[in-house]
Formats: sequence, C-alpha cells, structure tokens
Amino acid sequence: MPDLYATISEVDPSVQERLAVVLEMRAADARQLEMLESYLSEINFPPDARVLEIGCGTGGVTRTLAQWPGVSEAVGIDPSAVFLSKARELGHAIPNLSFEKGDGRSLPFDDKSFDVVVIHTTMCHVPDPEGLTAEAYRVLRQNGWLAVFDGDYATATIATGDCDPLEACIHAFRDGFVHDKWLVRRLPAMIQSCGFDVKPMRSHGYVEAGTGSYLLTWIDRGADVLLQAGRIGAEKAEALKAEARQRSDNDNWFGHIAFASILATKPE
Ligand SMILES: C[S@@+](CC[C@H](N)C(=O)[O-])C[C@H]1O[C@@H](n2cnc3c(N)ncnc32)[C@H](O)[C@@H]1O
Repeated sequence: MPDLYATISEVDPSVQERLAVVLEMRAADARQLEMLESYLSEINFPPDARVLEIGCGTGGVTRTLAQWPGVSEAVGIDPSAVFLSKARELGHAIPNLSFEKGDGRSLPFDDKSFDVVVIHTTMCHVPDPEGLTAEAYRVLRQNGWLAVFDGDYATATIATGDCDPLEACIHAFRDGFVHDKWLVRRLPAMIQSCGFDVKPMRSHGYVEAGTGSYLLTWIDRGADVLLQAGRIGAEKAEALKAEARQRSDNDNWFGHIAFASILATKPE
C-alpha cells in the first residue's frame, strides 16, 4: 500500500481529520517535544531569524519554532488543506506564525529568503527527497541551517517475544504510512550531495514501556492497513487493537523506535 501522507491531498478528508488528531497527540507528547528542542538547541539561529517548516501538518513544530528565542517569523507549508485549517486554528494567537499550502518540492518562496529550514518527520513520506532537499537549499540564505528529523522506521518494534502477532501491524503501518523506511540511513550522503556542509547525525530513542500512548496508533493504523489489503477480517483487526490496549492496561506494553536528527549548513 502506498504511503497515505505521500498523496495526502487526495486522501478522504475524514481520514485526514483522524490523522490531524494523531499529529496533535504526538505534538503534545513531552518526549517528542524534548527531542525537537534537543536538536533545535544545536542550531545557531541568527537574530530575527526567518524560519520555514516544510511539511508542517497541523503546525505543532511550527508553533514551537515561532516561539523559539531569536525567531522573528515562522512559516509552515503543507499540501493538506485539512491539516492547514487545523494549524491556523491552533496557531491563531501567535502573531509571527503563518501557513501556506504547497509542495515542498516546488516551494512558492524566493531564493535565499529563510535563515533556517526544518523538515520534521516529513522527508520519509516524500517521493524524491533529493528534490525536497534541493528546494530547501535554494530558499536558504548563505550560512543558513537545514534541520532534518525523521524516524529510522526499520528500527520500529513493539514485539515482546518471538512471532509476536502485533509486530505484523508495525510492518503494515510502515507499508501504509512510510514511503521510504530506510531514508535516515542515506540522509548524510544525500544532503551532502545537494551542496550542504553536514554535521554528525544524532540518534534519539523513543520508547513506551508499561503504558502505551502514541505507538498504540501504529497498531490501529497497521491493523486497518491489513484489513483494507484483505489480509485479515474486521474481527481480527479489532482483536489486534484490543490486544495492544490490554497490554497497555496491564502495564505490559513495549514499543520503541530510533529517531535521528541531522543538521547541515549552506556554505558561503
Ligand atoms: C508525519 S506528518 C509531520 C507533520 C509535522 N511536521 C509534525 O511533525 O507534526 C508528514 C507531513 O508531510 C506532509 N507532506 C506530504 N507530502 C509532502 C510534500 N510533497 N511536501 C510537503 N509536505 C508534504 C504531509 O501532509 C504531513 O503533514
């Protein structure tokens, strides 16, 4: 199954609404915020920085960027009108924040018009990440910063033993929601080939142990992918979701994924 995010504007609006809820659930997760703030704090934001987030979804990351010290303006761009409507609603009280509809591979912005470009959990969903990175390069000023943060989805697991049936949901989730699960592993070479000076990649472990939260949505979405693909029936899909909830209720849940951040600058 193709990645839903890769063709998001063609996806049924009711499905986009459900994904908007998941994006805001993740934005509210303290550990996710910690990872975001950890890599943002490594960027030398120039005074009055103009910042762009490509693939902003409902705007959780862009809201953080708008309120980051030294940032004078934060702009988010995304192809989904449903996500952008939510982003505008949630960000209406932040004066230096705005959103535009568009594709990261053909940005509607002038050359050298931003100081920092952030691409947060978006690049693995976009066919032609090289085109996306080239556009980030074009709109960045000299000495501007690119920050890419993404899941190393090949590491994602919820298994607590051999042949754990819930692990099939994780594989299905990756099929239905991640265009390139290996992207992180070729990011340094790819970003460098677009002309950037690349800093060392950092790993950020995300674990849910005992009670489940965001990763339970992977089981739900993976079970739905298996159902839609005709691999299982509705009853089994519900049983897999219930098994995950039961583990969480019994304090037996486990889920882990390694995320990675990579920073790069545009040379003089
Ligand atoms: C997992 S979401 C991440 C959203 C946001 N960065 C966050 O962390 O909350 C991936 C986003 O990529 C967007 N996207 C998909 N294709 C895109 C493209 N060609 N250009 C820009 N954004 C795209 C989707 O609409 C979606 O909002």
